[in-house]
Amino acid sequence: MAFFSKFFGNREPRALGIDIGSSAIKVVQLKKKNGQAILETYGELALGPYGGLSVGQAVQLPTDKISAALADLMKEKEVNVTTKSSGLSIPFSSSLMAVIEMPEVAQKELAIMVPIEARKYIPVPISEVMLDWSVIPRSDVRVESVAEELPQEGGGFAAPAAAMPKIDVLMVAIHKETIARFQEIVSSAGLDAGFFEIEIFATSRAVMDEGLRPVMIMDMGAATTKLYIIERGIVRASHTINRGSQDITSNLSKSLNMTPEQAEVMKREVGAAGDDKSVNDVIALVLDYIFAEANTVLLDYEQRYNKAVSKTILVGGGAALKGLLELAKANFKTEAELAEPFSKVAAPAFLEKILRETGPEFAVAIGLALRKLAEEEE
Ligand SMILES: Nc1ncnc2c1ncn2[C@@H]1O[C@H](COP(=O)(O)OP(=O)(O)OP(=O)(O)O)[C@@H](O)[C@H]1O
Ligand SMILES: [Mg+2]
Repeated sequence: MAFFSKFFGNREPRALGIDIGSSAIKVVQLKKKNGQAILETYGELALGPYGGLSVGQAVQLPTDKISAALADLMKEKEVNVTTKSSGLSIPFSSSLMAVIEMPEVAQKELAIMVPIEARKYIPVPISEVMLDWSVIPRSDVRVESVAEELPQEGGGFAAPAAAMPKIDVLMVAIHKETIARFQEIVSSAGLDAGFFEIEIFATSRAVMDEGLRPVMIMDMGAATTKLYIIERGIVRASHTINRGSQDITSNLSKSLNMTPEQAEVMKREVGAAGDDKSVNDVIALVLDYIFAEANTVLLDYEQRYNKAVSKTILVGGGAALKGLLELAKANFKTEAELAEPFSKVAAPAFLEKILRETGPEFAVAIGLALRKLAEEEE
C-alpha cells in the first residue's frame, strides 16, 4: 500500500485527549482510518510524586510542575504520543453550571438575556468568565411547568402561572484565568490545545448511549467522587462528595499499620471482595458513605422531576477497585455498570481485557480524543 500512502498519507487524522486530574494525568491518542476511530496509544502518570505524595493521592501543584509532568508523560517511550493536536479537560470544580429559567424568546434575544441573568449565579464579574449555554429541549422541561398546561376538565387549558411561557437553559461558566492556566500547561509541554472542555461533557461522550431515560454518572477520583445526572445529553444535576479512593488507602494504612504505598498496593491488588475481612471492612466504610450520598442525590432528583433514573455508570480510577461493581449493585437504588469507553474505538483484540479494566479511568481522555478527532476532519 506504499503507493497509495504517498497520496493519502496525510488523510489519517490523529488526536490526543488529555485529562489532568487531581491525582493523575491520563492521555489517549486516536487516529481515524477508513471512517473508524482507532486506538493508537494511551497512558497515565501519577501526580502525587511531583508534590512529595504517593501514587494515588490528590495533590495541588503549581502550573510549571504539572507542565513538567505532562512533558514527562509525552516522553515515555511506551506511551509514544505522536501528535500535538489535543483537547484538554477542565475540572468540574473549576466550572459553574446552572439550569436557569428564561422566557421563551428568540435565540437572538436569549443571547443578550442569558449573560444578564447569569450575573445572578456567577460570583465574579461576567467579563472574567467564558460563558456558554444551551436551551434544554422542550420535552425535557420540568414536570411542574408542563403540568400547568394540562387540559382542564370541561375543556380548555389551565392558564400558565406567568404570562410568558418559560424555557430552561443550561448555563456553563469557566473563569478565564483557569483556561489561561491550562493553556500554559499544554503549550509549555509543547502541545496544541484545540479546545478546553469541562470533564463531564467529555465523559458523557465516552460512556453514554442514546437512551432517553436519565442516567447517573459516578466519577470516583482520588479526593472526591463526582455525581452527575444526565438526560438526553444534558447535565441536569450534579453533586460532589468529599470522599474518594485515596480515603480507602489512608484508612487501610491507618488501621492495618502500613505505609501509604503498601496500602495503595493492597487496595489495588486485594480490593473490596478479597478473602481478608479486615480489608473488606475498611473499604466498605468509605464506600458506604459514598453510596449513601449517591442514593440521596438520586432520590432527590427522582422526586423533584418525577422520573426514574435508569442506571448508574461508574467511571474514574476509583471505579477500577475489584469488587466495587458488585457492592454498587447491592447498594444502589438503580442498576449499576462499569463504563466501557474503549468500546467506542477499535483496538487490538489482545488488549480487550486490560482495556475493559482500565476503561473507567480513561473515560474523560477518550471523550476528549473523540471530539478532537471529529474536529480534525472538518
Ligand atoms: N485498580 C485500582 N483499584 C483501586 N483503586 C484504583 C485503581 N486504579 C486507580 N485507583 C485509584 O483511583 C484514584 C484515582 O482516580 P482518577 O485517576 O480517576 O482520579 P483523578 O482523575 O486524578 O481525580 P479527580 O477526577 O477527582 O481530579 C486514586 O486514588 C487511585 O488510588
Ligand atoms: Mg478525574
